[in-house]
Amino acid sequence: MSHVAPPSPLTARRTGALTGRVRVPGDKSISHRALILAALTVGETRVTGLLEGEDVINTSKAMQALGATVERTGEQAWRVMGVGVGGFAEPAAALDFGNSGTGCRLVIGAVAGCPIQATFDGDASLRKRPMQRIVEPLQKIGARLRDAADGGRLPLTLQGAIDPIPIEYEAPVPSAQLKSAVLLAGLAAPGTTTVIENEATRDHTEKMLSHFGARVRVSPHGDHGRRITLEGQPELEPAPIAVPADPSSAAFPMVAALITPGSDVIVEGVMTNPLRAGLLTSLREMGAAIEVVQERTEGGEDVADLRVRASPLKGIEVPAERAPTMIDEYPILAVAAAFAEGVTRMRGLKELRVKESDRLAATAEMLRANGVAVEIEGDDLIVQGKGRAPGGGVVVTHMDHRIAMSALVLGLASEQPVQVDDAAVIGTSFPGFSDLMRSLGADLS
Ligand code: S3P
Repeated sequence: MSHVAPPSPLTARRTGALTGRVRVPGDKSISHRALILAALTVGETRVTGLLEGEDVINTSKAMQALGATVERTGEQAWRVMGVGVGGFAEPAAALDFGNSGTGCRLVIGAVAGCPIQATFDGDASLRKRPMQRIVEPLQKIGARLRDAADGGRLPLTLQGAIDPIPIEYEAPVPSAQLKSAVLLAGLAAPGTTTVIENEATRDHTEKMLSHFGARVRVSPHGDHGRRITLEGQPELEPAPIAVPADPSSAAFPMVAALITPGSDVIVEGVMTNPLRAGLLTSLREMGAAIEVVQERTEGGEDVADLRVRASPLKGIEVPAERAPTMIDEYPILAVAAAFAEGVTRMRGLKELRVKESDRLAATAEMLRANGVAVEIEGDDLIVQGKGRAPGGGVVVTHMDHRIAMSALVLGLASEQPVQVDDAAVIGTSFPGFSDLMRSLGADLS
């Protein structure tokens, strides 16, 4: 249904040291949640630092189609007039989420608690992704699936619950999107909705619900999990939101600096929420010189300036338990692993197969096309680090922004240039990526 800009190839070439200070755009997860939750408050919320990438813009359009007022008031500054919990109006046309699994799945959850019918759609990548995992608990809450493509995929039409039922739900996969969809639907239900996760995933929904005045309790569950309970039917109160810089975007200039000899780069204001910080842990284990320059809080999240210097890296084993805290960072970690000495084994990457692309396959393909030895064994990715990469490949991005950016970072330090077939898709999460990298000295053209 929707499409991003027409394919535009881009090539990265080996450059000298990268230097300078940059700030990457606002966090994508928090930006989606800010718009959706503000739309469920009664009154006006101001959001600053919003990520103005295509994914989040699509969520803003969906909120408008559902009856909220969403306006851009300045650079990364937005104003949302909410309609209150359960107050969404039936949209006149299908909601188009483009490339964004997060926007789509969270809004499916929010709609599931309202007595309206809506159709959800997206681009060719999103149409391939599993939606049944979201719809299944929402049906327990009382929503009905009216129509869906094969395998319960998009485009799908959902009838929200007329009398939503509070449920206790144990998530079968570690997914913040799944957890969030259930909590957003549970907002409209009387009584307590509970989500149990066996592995803790990013907690932005829980934190933001509390920020807007909902009663949310979080307690440990097992060794790595959490139990989250939400008191339904709160009156959510508007409250300003300052979106911190996205650690998943910061990952690209950080790894570029680590693998490009002589580099010294500061990435400002990066969110260091422990449930998003698995890449930092892994890179440090590899021997990366990453210094936390100034720790502070912004918009209720811990943030820091990170000073990253080019470093000799060594191969490591990344445990499966770490995956939820760095699920979007494996392609770029695999690039760092190629430039490390020795083998890096990344365990338990099953969920990577259902991202914007089959990211496990796409990451292996990206490295292989550039002369790096890599294997997939079950759900593990194994990279044979040689401290260098030949490069010279053309990388197929499969409509996956993180594959595109990872490949370009690889090209900055490999012996021969690396080309990606489509850099346009980067605009879904990181508008300004090429200019930001060029400001550090990267050769991208
Ligand atoms: C996200 C959760 C993760 C992540 C995605 C953003 C979120 O997906 O990959 O980029 O904002 O909740 P899953 O919930 O499918 O793991």
